[in-house]
Amino acid sequence: MSLIRQSVVDMKGYTPGEQPQGDARVIKLNTNENPYPPSLHVDEAMRTIDSSILRKYPDPLSIKLRTAIADLHDCTIDNVFVGNGADELLALCTRAFVENDGSVGYFEPSYSLYPVLCDIRGVAKMPIELDDNLSSPMPTNADCSLFFVTNPNAPTSVLDSRSNVERFCSNFKGVVVLDEAYVDFSDHNCMDIALKSKNVLVARTLSKSYSMAGLRLGYAVGDAMLIEALNKIKDSYNLNAITQKLALAAILDQDHMLANVERIKTTRTRFVGELKELGFMVVPSQTNFIWAKPSRISAKEIYDELYKRRILIRYFPGKNTGDFVRITIGTDEEMDELLSVLRKLCI
Ligand SMILES: Cc1ncc(COP(=O)(O)O)c(C=O)c1O
Repeated sequence: MSLIRQSVVDMKGYTPGEQPQGDARVIKLNTNENPYPPSLHVDEAMRTIDSSILRKYPDPLSIKLRTAIADLHDCTIDNVFVGNGADELLALCTRAFVENDGSVGYFEPSYSLYPVLCDIRGVAKMPIELDDNLSSPMPTNADCSLFFVTNPNAPTSVLDSRSNVERFCSNFKGVVVLDEAYVDFSDHNCMDIALKSKNVLVARTLSKSYSMAGLRLGYAVGDAMLIEALNKIKDSYNLNAITQKLALAAILDQDHMLANVERIKTTRTRFVGELKELGFMVVPSQTNFIWAKPSRISAKEIYDELYKRRILIRYFPGKNTGDFVRITIGTDEEMDELLSVLRKLCI
């Protein structure tokens, strides 16, 4: 008898971007982290933490944090779920909203965690290929229990229109999760659609625009019935006391987050212009990363050559992705160093 479930033996786990551990300097543009530090309010909150906070269990319902998020989005605490990264709440959605014989839809390519979550849960996957122009062909008759719409999409950086999203959500019979991990870098979002629908959740994270990937805080906003289902099945104490405190400080300093987003968008515009000069086709980005196709040397060669020079970007082999590289927008200095290498490679 096998000690491991057969489906777990058969599945391939999620492959995260490399997180270098040594002290050597690396220009890290591979996991869409924010190059700027979190709010100073987070530093202040950290200074007030001593080890006595660890003696007791944390608030199982994260009331203060959820209240702050509810205030931010003009809804009530019953509309807000908080999780250990957006990844946790995406996993919980596959457990709460999909029957054993149900299925999960998502676009291909989009966030590569979704199929892994389906395999863990043991439910069918219904990937839908993006159009040739990388827009999401919203299905009119998708017959699945749950659909993940990454908007703006990763790794393509494309933002779908509100009207497309709204039409899809109102026709779809199951639960739609609008994964808005990168939406603070975009021209619009769909939070209001979630708040007026019975079957739509928006998922957000503090990992990108708030510069806190190491904290692990994601949240979902939507109808109270969906939120209650997630609260029912989560681990009792899914958010530790330190995360609750520091996430609250970050959420309360919107100015800091918005200023960093503007800085990154300015760098993005400049970097995209320079890449085009080097012959890249760059997809118009609505995120803190760009999706670009080189013309003078292959995407894989660019990835390999940069890797040798300790500049990490992301390369996804495969039919729809293998001609492109995904590059996170870092500081101006980091992008300049990257560009000086690319100039040598692309002449
Ligand atoms: C589209 C998308 N959704 C969710 C996440 C996960 O966010 P978190 O770090 O909060 O788990 C990521 C992380 O890269 C992502 O790209």
